[in-house]
Amino acid sequence: MITNSQSGTRVDEVAPSVYRISTPVTILPGGFSFNQYLLVDEAPLLFHTGPRRMFPLVREAIASVMPVERLRYVAFSHVEADECGSLNELLAASPQAEPLCGSVAAMVSVNDLADRAPKALADGESVSLGKARVRWLDAPHLPHGWECGYLFEETDRTLFCGDLFTQPGAQHAPVTTGDILGPSESMRAAMDYYAHGTASRPLFQKLAATQPKTLACMHGSAWSGDGERLIGELADAVAPSAS
Ligand SMILES: [Fe+2]
Ligand SMILES: [Fe+2]
Repeated sequence: MITNSQSGTRVDEVAPSVYRISTPVTILPGGFSFNQYLLVDEAPLLFHTGPRRMFPLVREAIASVMPVERLRYVAFSHVEADECGSLNELLAASPQAEPLCGSVAAMVSVNDLADRAPKALADGESVSLGKARVRWLDAPHLPHGWECGYLFEETDRTLFCGDLFTQPGAQHAPVTTGDILGPSESMRAAMDYYAHGTASRPLFQKLAATQPKTLACMHGSAWSGDGERLIGELADAVAPSAS
């Protein structure tokens, strides 16, 4: 469903009660996309806020699904404009909302940047949203940012995987079972956004072990299938084992 015809912002349910909000942007040749994910439950959660200047579009898109004031958690993977640029605008619009992030993000940035104190999660710590339960997974420097981490929704096995599998281009199917590794590797070949930390491979293995059924990517299509296998293939491409 298109929620703003001028920007092309659209909202689609890509997993049970998980809505992908996507806006095409022109910051890269060939176009690009910024996605946010809204998990609707008793305590609704937004993963990624979008950049500050995109806030009116994201607010409008959330409002097409539920009242923005119902938001309980505003979560993100790491501190960048597309991840949390409109965090304070969302906190102002949603009186009960708290930032939800990893403990490193809270310590280094969010305790200071956010207008309301964050709920900081340790690696492996989980939070109930009602029906759904989300678990925080630390992933320092994967693909970038010391504070980087992900949320895994345990009931329907959705991994909110942020910048992993970043796909170029502005127009994508909301969710696909097709190839996203090829496009994301072509993006990485042109613009390598990975820090290539020494722990990349075990971190990929930790993420793959959640056996996700849906990968909620921040840029491009969400993906449905055997997430353990696909993350393993990404690990082989980005951080091949020494042997
Ligand atoms: Fe990023
Ligand atoms: Fe991103």
